[in-house]
Amino acid sequence: MKTLVIIPTYQEREALPMILERTRAAVPDADVLVADDASPDGTGAIADAWAAQDEQVHVLHRAGKEGLGRAYVAGFRWGLERGYEVIVEMDADGSHQPEQLPDLLAALESDQADLVLGSRWVPGGRVVNWPRSRELLSRGGNTYTRVAMGLPVRDATGGFRAFRSSCLARLPLGEVMSHGYCFQVDMTQRVRDAGGRIVEVPITFVERTVGESKMSRAIVTEALWRVTVWGARYRAGQVAALAGSAGRRARRGGVPG
Ligand code: GDD
Ligand code: MN
Repeated sequence: MKTLVIIPTYQEREALPMILERTRAAVPDADVLVADDASPDGTGAIADAWAAQDEQVHVLHRAGKEGLGRAYVAGFRWGLERGYEVIVEMDADGSHQPEQLPDLLAALESDQADLVLGSRWVPGGRVVNWPRSRELLSRGGNTYTRVAMGLPVRDATGGFRAFRSSCLARLPLGEVMSHGYCFQVDMTQRVRDAGGRIVEVPITFVERTVGESKMSRAIVTEALWRVTVWGARYRAGQVAALAGSAGRRARRGGVPG
């Protein structure tokens, strides 16, 4: 299947050449789109130089730092317009190992999935070199998300995943307001609500050795309030559905009021 790997970048000049090299080697048939938010460190120019000598590498230059969610939505549109059948998300810093991409793509095909999540928190999944505080944040965030929103997955916040384009194209991308990492939860919920099939495959997440994480207090705060709102809406929908079916049963003369 015609595949596009989107790599969002902000200040990744040290990591980008390594990740492009590894990605092109691991999945030689896939095209790559670097979505750079005008990184002041010149990441965009490094991507351009690579694209000039490799026709399977493309660059989407964005006007400024608008967050991971915005960069991905722009990248999804770019890929859908060009007829890619599979669109992949992957970090630039090596935490998501390109060598595991074939596992994700195989699951998409063999399990007939619409979304394959590379998962740290299923059996066989691992995290290497993460500080305890980051692991607790991710585990806690995923537990909260699963319970509040009824999302039937162990790792809804991870950013190593593959979408089947036929499903992605049906989602209202213009309505996606998430800027930070809760964008991942947002997309997972939208695939679920569209009736898409979601499958998790274990990955080994390796903490970066170059550059810096863009995780911030603002990203955590946005995630907390959005997941709370999404959870409340999901539960309200469940209550409405239950009330509706109870009402129908009562009218049929089954269960009393
Ligand atoms: N274009 C663009 N714009 N890229 C961004 C932005 C932005 O505003 N913010 C971050 N990125 C890029 C980074 O350059 C990197 O390639 C990727 O997004 C992930 O950013 P990191 O800063 O390395 O994230 P992390 O390692 O702290 O977070 C990991 O865990 C999160 C929570 O589970 C990642 O796996 C995330 O994808 C995940 O959501
Ligand atoms: Mn990272």
